[in-house]
Amino acid sequence: MKKTILITGGAGFIGSHVVRRFVNKYPEYLVVNADKLTYAGNLENLADIDKKENYAFEKTDIVDKQSVFDLFRKYNFDGVIHLAAESHVDRSITSPDEFVFTNIIGTVNLLNASLELWKNAPEGKLFYHISTDEVFGSLGAEGYFTEVTAYDPKSPYSASKASSDHLVRAYNHTFGIPAVISNCSNNYGPNQFPEKLIPLAINNIKNSKPIPVYGKGENIRDWLYVEDHASAIDLIFHRGNNGETYNIGGNNEWKNIDLIILLCKIMDTKLGRQDGTSERLITYVKDRPGHDARYAIDSSKLQGELGWSPIPEFAVGLEKTVEWYLANTGWLERVLSGDYGRYYEKMYAGR
Ligand code: NAD
Ligand code: DAU
Repeated sequence: MKKTILITGGAGFIGSHVVRRFVNKYPEYLVVNADKLTYAGNLENLADIDKKENYAFEKTDIVDKQSVFDLFRKYNFDGVIHLAAESHVDRSITSPDEFVFTNIIGTVNLLNASLELWKNAPEGKLFYHISTDEVFGSLGAEGYFTEVTAYDPKSPYSASKASSDHLVRAYNHTFGIPAVISNCSNNYGPNQFPEKLIPLAINNIKNSKPIPVYGKGENIRDWLYVEDHASAIDLIFHRGNNGETYNIGGNNEWKNIDLIILLCKIMDTKLGRQDGTSERLITYVKDRPGHDARYAIDSSKLQGELGWSPIPEFAVGLEKTVEWYLANTGWLERVLSGDYGRYYEKMYAGR
């Protein structure tokens, strides 16, 4: 094997697309997926590649320092792509502690283990930290987040991700760990846990349940198909420059309510329902506390320097996503059968 790579959080939404891409595209790499398998981690996401010789799974909690060091000593990694995180903003508002443990302490454990392994021979090694555009805070009607926008996180989730970004930069600057960071906008696509807006709405529309829209539905997000994020990660891992940050975004801003209306139209067509049926499910509910108004990414650095560009039109990507959820009802039912019912009740009952 030419390289041994650790991908953390590989059983989650984005991580599973990254693991699949690397396992299939780079047969000469050994890809080790370390994941705690929280409610968001699902090995079923990787059923098509889990028997491949260049893939290994290690059930690991990155908060457990000893387990992380044991893992690094066992595999002698050449590179780390770090996606493991608590990722849902609403959960960070009800239970912030878990976000501090996993997103901050977990990242420090991985950095310390990388330092132990690479300090005498850092050449050719790389710690690639996957982060979010939410670290930059909230935009008004104009402007974009660039790589030099000042950090201004507003939720416990984004504050924990911002802390981890700062730690990665500090280890790069102080200890010389080769590192890159990317900050990406909202992802959508197959395998996303149905706590997030798009799969939650798809599931509710399918079951003719109310679609909860926070506040007035005027908040804006910049949506990117998950495979496009995976292709950017591949490019940055192989061609990104040490110490650099890259913004990744779809140049695809949507007000939540407009996105939901588009989704309703697609669902009506796919389910053979009369046009307008799903829109009647739209229900305005109490806003998310501290709800960021607008995210919009300027990804011209990544496009110009590394030649990346996103592929599907939003309507095409959304249609593919809807088709995947309608074709994978078993996946959805198994995911929903855990503690999802209790989560949903707690999160939406009072709204
Ligand atoms: P996800 O919640 O779907 O998956 C997270 C994965 O991390 C799960 O498999 C979970 O089991 C694992 N995990 C959680 N805690 C762990 C721990 N203590 N030890 C080991 N594994 C643990 O998240 P996602 O949406 O796929 O996001 C992946 C990464 O990308 C995160 O770092 C997130 O901040 C970042 N990101 C996400 C988006 C998005 O729109 N989803 C956008 C930009 C950046
Ligand atoms: O911007 C990148 C971030 O995008 C990632 O770092 C996060 O991990 C990811 O969860 C996502 O955060 P958001 O909070 O933007 O995503 P979410 O799907 O939770 O919400 C999208 C928008 O929809 C947001 O404005 C809140 C709103 N919303 C969400 C839910 C779940 C609703 O109106 N109703 C809902 O039920």
